[in-house]
Amino acid sequence: MTGAASALLAPRGAFAAPGGESLGALAAAKGILFGASLAAHELDRDYGAKYAEIYQRDCRIVTSELEFKLSALRAKEDAIDFYDADRLVQFAHGHGMQIRAHTLIWNDDVPQWIKDLDGAGAAQLLDMHIETVMVRYKDSVRFWDVVNEPIGPWDNLPGKLRAGPFYAALGEGYITAAFNKARSIEPSAVLVLNEAQCETADDNGEIFRSSFLALLKRLKDAGAAIDAVGLQGHLKTAARYDFPRFTAFLQDIAALGFAIHITELDVNDTGADGSITDRDRQVAALYGKFLGAVLSVKAVNVVQTWQLSDAASWMQDKGLQADNKMHTDPRPLPYDSRFRRKLAWDAIAQAFANAPPR
Ligand code: GLA
Repeated sequence: MTGAASALLAPRGAFAAPGGESLGALAAAKGILFGASLAAHELDRDYGAKYAEIYQRDCRIVTSELEFKLSALRAKEDAIDFYDADRLVQFAHGHGMQIRAHTLIWNDDVPQWIKDLDGAGAAQLLDMHIETVMVRYKDSVRFWDVVNEPIGPWDNLPGKLRAGPFYAALGEGYITAAFNKARSIEPSAVLVLNEAQCETADDNGEIFRSSFLALLKRLKDAGAAIDAVGLQGHLKTAARYDFPRFTAFLQDIAALGFAIHITELDVNDTGADGSITDRDRQVAALYGKFLGAVLSVKAVNVVQTWQLSDAASWMQDKGLQADNKMHTDPRPLPYDSRFRRKLAWDAIAQAFANAPPR
């Protein structure tokens, strides 16, 4: 077929995905696992069937958006509620998808009763919670975000660590304690340390990258059982990036022996002007540039977006939109809010097609 004829057959954008038209399949062809975060309650919405359909088409792994957080499992002190986590596991397994449970320990997003614990209570909870949850889902969940977002420069703690009940109880040692407890329960699970805000070229990105890398070195020396580093990848069209620099950071992480997962990729298009198509072009271009850079690093073997359709993005939150002067109709993901593929989908597909195999 000539170039012109194949271009005519391309369903959208510049790239026609071969066979199947699945991001999961395109990624798998290169040894990369692709998926997205999923929220079980979205399956109950009017659009639940369409929501499920795009995951079935594209995802080989789902992350629990809310269901495994302490705020969901342990909203109350005297009970643990597995209802939504069970639903997510059932959906994923019913469709042959792997699961990333997010997150066992996070100093943010904890209910008040946990904030009120004393040091001994928080240390005991860390141990008991990891054991209870991992034992229950041992055979269902392979990927665990054991600790989320250890860095928080605004708290002015040594190492620029984030404050919270687990840090207050054990200092930096809470991270090693969590990983080693997780390893003792599930030796073959993939244990992940997940971090935000490392991507930008500004001072904030620089502080996150240097603090996080220094932390990883200390954790390695301390013998923390970490298999992979998660980098969230919440990008913004309005932010500055230096991808060669970011790639060098990934190489530094890989040199420590960790696999790298891109765990929460999306593109905030606040500030992008023009028509919907113009905005979608800018979003797609950033997906393409970011993935082109990170997939050149072979240690990157998992890529996940944070939700898959604009309809369910965390950027739909009206309070967040008002506080951050965001677009009230954000377009951060590969599918629009009516579950139609966008240029971002094509950009992701193209990036997988171009990626060197693992
Ligand atoms: C962070 C957390 C996620 C989620 C997103 C945005 O990245 O890791 O669990 O809360 O923020 O919603």
